Amino acid sequence: KHVILIGPPGCGKGTQSPKLKAEHCLCHLATGDMLRAAVAAKTPLGVEAKKAMDAGALVSDEIVVGLIGEAVQRPDCRVGFILDGFPRTVVQAQKLDEMLQKRGTAIDRVLNFVVPDPVLVERVTGRWIHPASGRSYHDKFAPPRTPGVDDVTGEPLVKRKDDNADTLKARLAAFHAQTTPVVDFYKSKVVDVAADKPQADVAAQIRQAL
Ligand code: AP5
Ligand code: ZN
Repeated sequence: KHVILIGPPGCGKGTQSPKLKAEHCLCHLATGDMLRAAVAAKTPLGVEAKKAMDAGALVSDEIVVGLIGEAVQRPDCRVGFILDGFPRTVVQAQKLDEMLQKRGTAIDRVLNFVVPDPVLVERVTGRWIHPASGRSYHDKFAPPRTPGVDDVTGEPLVKRKDDNADTLKARLAAFHAQTTPVVDFYKSKVVDVAADKPQADVAAQIRQAL
């Protein structure tokens, strides 16, 4: 299976991915996680991407298409993959289609996570992440067992630099302007998910859609 998760910042893409990954043996490819790792490692790509990310703007199509192009060739991605946060522009979607066509495959489903903007503010400002695994928590909706500490590794949780109300405004604007056209691009493959519901409810909708 080749599945795309599309939706605004804080809609729950990263939260639902591990369950999907486990249930369908898919690999999880999140361009945001890949970019944050490159920023932390201060690679040339990371240094270039950081400016746009801190401003809540999109990184160039070239950079993210390059990252995904390499990732889909990983042996563990042979069964299929979940794309989390990619494609985010119509150009990225076209490049992805070309890449998959060459491999004799195609996207099966696009899950469109729908959440009203006001709900996203609380989701994003209350979030904590474990950078090494990409796991996310929330002060109110998904608190860790010990505040500030990852349940699995015991390592400290951190805030994402772009998780503040101001940068969120820019990220939402980028989503509405550049990413919503991607939903139309995939029309016939799109299933809407009401992602403003509790996590278990969202997971059930996804199971139904696949
Ligand atoms: P990226 O990391 O992809 O960020 P995003 O799209 O803004 O999405 P988030 O990670 O913020 O949200 P999520 O949907 O994963 O939410 P989560 O599950 O954590 O991208 C970051 C930046 O990188 C971009 O701004 C851009 O600069 C760049 N970039 C990345 N990909 C790119 C691309 N393809 N092209 C160009 N640039 C790119 O949930 C959020 C919170 O809510 C958590 O605290 C969680 O615990 C909680 N929560 C989750 N589900 C529920 C629920 N059902 N009920 C209550 N709380 C919930
Ligand atoms: Zn995410």
